[in-house]
Amino acid sequence: MGDPLLFAKAEPVTQFDTPELHALIEDMHDTMAQMNGAGIAAPQIGVSMRVVIFGVGNNPRYPDAEKVPYTVLINPVLNPVGNNMEDGWEGCLSVPGMRGVVPRYTRLHYTGFDQFGQPIDRLVSDFHARVVQHECDHLDGILYPMRIQDLRNFGYTDVLFPDSDIADD
Ligand code: NI
Repeated sequence: MGDPLLFAKAEPVTQFDTPELHALIEDMHDTMAQMNGAGIAAPQIGVSMRVVIFGVGNNPRYPDAEKVPYTVLINPVLNPVGNNMEDGWEGCLSVPGMRGVVPRYTRLHYTGFDQFGQPIDRLVSDFHARVVQHECDHLDGILYPMRIQDLRNFGYTDVLFPDSDIADD
């Protein structure tokens, strides 16, 4: 957090299934895996393009989270379904060691493409919807602390959750 690139609007991908795109996604995948992230956006590794990846299996940072399938999502378009929003704790690999409560739409329709240019079209809810909203915010220069409504709900992971074994990232 603080790098101007994280506050920039990222550029759309115009060519799919290229060596450069595959290499970018591999770098993102390695970084996310190493840091036990639920997702990562290209600007977080210094590339201002509209590419996010996400997926949650058994993640020590999100021990209670529902499973989210591993997904490469490029040039995403998000549309909330209904107006219902819910508060939930979020962290971010670009804001290490901290957590904050962020409101997100509970139901979401999203479209986009995978790295081969195949279309993706999903209707999701709850944690899956939250992860997609968080990651796609990165493509528009928005970090989750900018969406916290009450800054008392923002702090250090080890202070907020002293008894938890959530990794101190
Ligand atoms: Ni993030």
